[in-house]
Amino acid sequence: MLIPTHLSLLAVALFSTVVCGEPDSEDKRAFLQSLEAKFESYQQRNSFGNGSIQDPFRKQHLRRDVKGVNRNPDGSAFVWLPEDVYQGKNFFDAFDFFRWDDPTAGAVTYVNRTVAFEKKYAYVDDNGKVIMKPDITSHLPLGAHRESVRINTWKLYTGGLFILDLNRAPWGCAVWPAFWTVGMPKWPDFGEIDVLEGVHDNEHNQVAWHTNPGCWLDTTQQFTGNVTTGPDGHHHDNCDANINNNAGCAITEWSRASYGPYFEAQGGGVIAMKWDENDISVWSFFRAAIPDDILDGTPTPSSWGPPSAKLSSSKCDINKYYGNHTIVFNITFCGAWAGNSYIGTDCPGTCPERMMDPANFVVRGFFRY
Ligand SMILES: *[C@@H]1O[C@H](CO)[C@@H](O)[C@H](O)[C@H]1NC(C)=O
Ligand SMILES: *[C@@H]1O[C@H](CO)[C@@H](O)[C@H](O)[C@H]1NC(C)=O
Ligand SMILES: *[C@@H]1O[C@H](CO)[C@@H](O)[C@H](O)[C@H]1NC(C)=O
Ligand SMILES: *[C@@H]1O[C@H](CO)[C@@H](O)[C@H](O)[C@H]1NC(C)=O
Ligand SMILES: *[C@@H]1O[C@H](CO)[C@@H](O)[C@H](O)[C@H]1NC(C)=O
Repeated sequence: MLIPTHLSLLAVALFSTVVCGEPDSEDKRAFLQSLEAKFESYQQRNSFGNGSIQDPFRKQHLRRDVKGVNRNPDGSAFVWLPEDVYQGKNFFDAFDFFRWDDPTAGAVTYVNRTVAFEKKYAYVDDNGKVIMKPDITSHLPLGAHRESVRINTWKLYTGGLFILDLNRAPWGCAVWPAFWTVGMPKWPDFGEIDVLEGVHDNEHNQVAWHTNPGCWLDTTQQFTGNVTTGPDGHHHDNCDANINNNAGCAITEWSRASYGPYFEAQGGGVIAMKWDENDISVWSFFRAAIPDDILDGTPTPSSWGPPSAKLSSSKCDINKYYGNHTIVFNITFCGAWAGNSYIGTDCPGTCPERMMDPANFVVRGFFRY
């Protein structure tokens, strides 16, 4: 089986909202006015009313004509403007390397920045591609931990549009990578959003939210994924991190290309997480389907159709449960999720046994056991 334990990514771009009418500079004001004007003239010509998108043709027109303008549920307009871009050779400067024991009991030892660079677990290649990977050369005794990396931004965010462009994400037996954000300083007081996460040979990304008691997933909202169910068959719609072994509330994406072998095979893609007072939503686009507005830097989530996963403010007071998040990438092994679920897969032996041979974590070709 292919075990590509690489994470290679092109960029993480962060956009913050600018509400039309409250621009904080003349430039922005002019920009917003031009977008507004485009939107109004488009509305008049096409008389599609309040800006909701009903058919694919309209959607395309909307994208072409009024790139950048988004609408709140109450009809008010806003745009997303760039705040931070993490990419290229200085990528790691913006991140701290986590050096403590894995809180989810993974068979992993996280190394500091010096070691990560020395051993080439983290580097930026000549093309500006950011690479993170675990130790893929050491033979280990049974029960030993494998070295890996976990990094998080120094900067904290409360809301935003987080756009991640990546070519590959690790997958394969025993492997558990994640791209997520988590509130500081005390978990789970300020929430956790798991944007990209999977284990073993999963093909569907799982999006999850973990909070203090009182935040629920509104399963009647429009999203394309399936609400995750627990062993007892009940929906995981309670985001309380203190129950159900911290399963949180979670939605599994429908697309087989949202994690694992197919995601990798077609060149990865873009994952976008929008967090504002209305909802925390996630969209994933495989490489060939990345919307133009993302590619040209005017992301317009309101034109992307229903998200894969959505936590709506209708059953969760987002401003109360979420704040001050750092952005995290980690690659771990076994542990709370990957260890406990190992037995239900086609993976050979046990999770700790799997950890011993470094050849288990090297790319060998697609779909081979
Ligand atoms: C917006 O348009 C949709 C579709 O035409 C319609 O169902 C909805 O009632 C409209 N909302 C408002 C506030 O006009
Ligand atoms: C890795 O990320 C997940 C987020 O999905 C988190 O729950 C877990 O604690 C992290 N594990 C490690 C080993 O850092
Ligand atoms: C990084 O980790 C290595 C190995 O544990 C240790 O020897 C070194 O002092 C650490 N460096 C820093 C800057 O903490
Ligand atoms: C989602 O649920 C539908 C209906 O139960 C099911 O057919 C489908 O396989 C599920 N998809 C995923 C990705 O679990
Ligand atoms: C974020 O942290 C700052 C500084 O500690 C604090 O003042 C602020 O209230 C926090 N915001 C949220 C949403 O928790």
